[in-house]
Amino acid sequence: MKKSLKFYRGTILNPKSDTRCDFIADGVLVVSGAPGRAILEDVLAWDAAQKKYAKKIRAANTFDHRGSVFLPGFFDMHFHWVQDEVRTMPKDSLLEWLERYTFPTEARFSDPVYSKTRAHEFFKHLSRVGTFGGAVFSSIHECALSAAMKEAKGDFVIGNVLMTMNSPKDLTQTEDQAIGLAEKMTRRFGKRYAFTPRFAISTSPRVMKKGAVFANRARCFQQTHLSENHEEIAFTLKLYRGFPGFEKIKSYTEIYQKVGMLGARTLMAHGIHLSDAELKMLAKTRTAIVHCPTSNAPIAERGLGSGLFDFKKTERAGVRWALGSDIGGGPVLSMFDVMQSFVKQNQRAGKTGASCIKALYRATLAGAEILGVSKRTGNFKQGKDATFVVVPVPHRAGSKGTHQSAEALLSMIFEVGAKNRDAQDDLIQRSVFRGRVMVEEHS
Ligand code: GUN
Ligand code: FE
Repeated sequence: MKKSLKFYRGTILNPKSDTRCDFIADGVLVVSGAPGRAILEDVLAWDAAQKKYAKKIRAANTFDHRGSVFLPGFFDMHFHWVQDEVRTMPKDSLLEWLERYTFPTEARFSDPVYSKTRAHEFFKHLSRVGTFGGAVFSSIHECALSAAMKEAKGDFVIGNVLMTMNSPKDLTQTEDQAIGLAEKMTRRFGKRYAFTPRFAISTSPRVMKKGAVFANRARCFQQTHLSENHEEIAFTLKLYRGFPGFEKIKSYTEIYQKVGMLGARTLMAHGIHLSDAELKMLAKTRTAIVHCPTSNAPIAERGLGSGLFDFKKTERAGVRWALGSDIGGGPVLSMFDVMQSFVKQNQRAGKTGASCIKALYRATLAGAEILGVSKRTGNFKQGKDATFVVVPVPHRAGSKGTHQSAEALLSMIFEVGAKNRDAQDDLIQRSVFRGRVMVEEHS
């Protein structure tokens, strides 16, 4: 059968690992299949493509994006879709911020009509910034979760948060309600559902224990928050040492271990202040950490001032990790903001190794690997989904737009973003999900 092909010509950046990113200055993504199901047929230089596909390349099936760069769609491995409005509200340290801004915002999602409207807007925005995979927190409400499941376009796992204690009245479930809803949602959404105790402070050990059992049985992902802020850690330890069976715990991670939540399908947001023993526990169980640099950044930079994640120590311990925006802890939805913040904060602290190539890998393929979908997506390879974003190549005065390496080009794109953080949501000229154009130029 003859395949009809499409040729996208432009600069290609293809992340492979922390230290490798293929750079093709004049390249082509060759795409086959119907929009919505399209895959990559080939990834190669324009010169080579002209020879290989001489009979197939025509003006009508060639999309000329010279002057722009193709990147794979992003994975945002931790965000709260119900906190879109919180992004722009004032920041405070974690526990005060939750009480003052976050909980009242999430409470509004008890309304099914509001949930539907907001989900439609939010996930459209998410496609616009080129995020087509990740792990999502919803509010406690079934209607908000259903709306998100309907609107999310990409490889997402989504869960309603479970809150049975230390929470405002209108966001507190009974233990039976929490467990019952999680079981019902697992049956309804299968592996797209993520079992999501908000954090140990708000979810009772019984709920976490019971939920972990059925999440493991259903082979669903589990996600929660771990060790984000010193005050949170101290309160968590004090609280749990008062519970039977937890009197002797030495760490925050041990709580999740005791309730059976650690494992290769578990994502822990933040993990900033972990001891060596805790990192060892995470490595041994293959539990992944999601690092959210924009959320952890100082309050002056619109974060919660939680601290700087030690990626080197985490890697040395053998713990898998990927990047997330933690919207609304983080202020900007675009993963460009998350990547540039990771690079910049580490540079400023004098930490080496936080390259732009590493940031890109951790915002794309690393997320796909952790979610177990990297055979099908996460970067450019024959047979993978035709999912990508198109971004203009920034021009430095006098440089004529020539770039020698992936690192140099990425660093210029990140520089543009850092100068005007909110404008990054409009950086992408076109985003393509499995061959379907989701967003065209909006400038
Ligand atoms: N810990 C518990 N809930 C939250 C939340 O909504 N955001 C962040 N950043 N941390 C949390
Ligand atoms: Fe979070």
